[in-house]
Amino acid sequence: MKVLVLNGVNLNMLGKRETELYGSETLNDLETRLTSLNKDVDLEFFQSNSEEDIINKIHSHKEEKYDFGIFNFGAHTHTNIAIRDAILSVKLPFYEVHISNVYAREEFRHVSFFSDIAEGSIVGFGFDGYEFALLKILRNKNGS
Ligand code: DQA
Repeated sequence: MKVLVLNGVNLNMLGKRETELYGSETLNDLETRLTSLNKDVDLEFFQSNSEEDIINKIHSHKEEKYDFGIFNFGAHTHTNIAIRDAILSVKLPFYEVHISNVYAREEFRHVSFFSDIAEGSIVGFGFDGYEFALLKILRNKNGS
């Protein structure tokens, strides 16, 4: 089983950026956490600040045949129809994750172009949200 963990714009800055909102752990720490949680599935990590690279990575599902995605598109969540269309074009099932509670923040963050096409959304649980998403994927895989 293959899972794509995709982090979008500005998430390479985790640990340095607005730590009161996003915490002091880095993207590397996140990858270590998810890798140590999971022994069963093949995890692929991808982060980019480029819309084009994100879209191409999603399109690569046609060849890579991911079983599931765990996606945090950062600010693109609230604005980006092209990334939404990319997911729809390759039919890749995914969970949407946000580290911060976007609903307790500015109103423009209350809109997501992805929630209605996600299998589920996990919001406001910090890095644990990615772990919850992965645990759910593992549970689904094991039929429990
Ligand atoms: C975020 C929330 C977005 O509103 C913001 O632009 C981010 C991070 C989160 O994980 O909380 O970059 O996706």
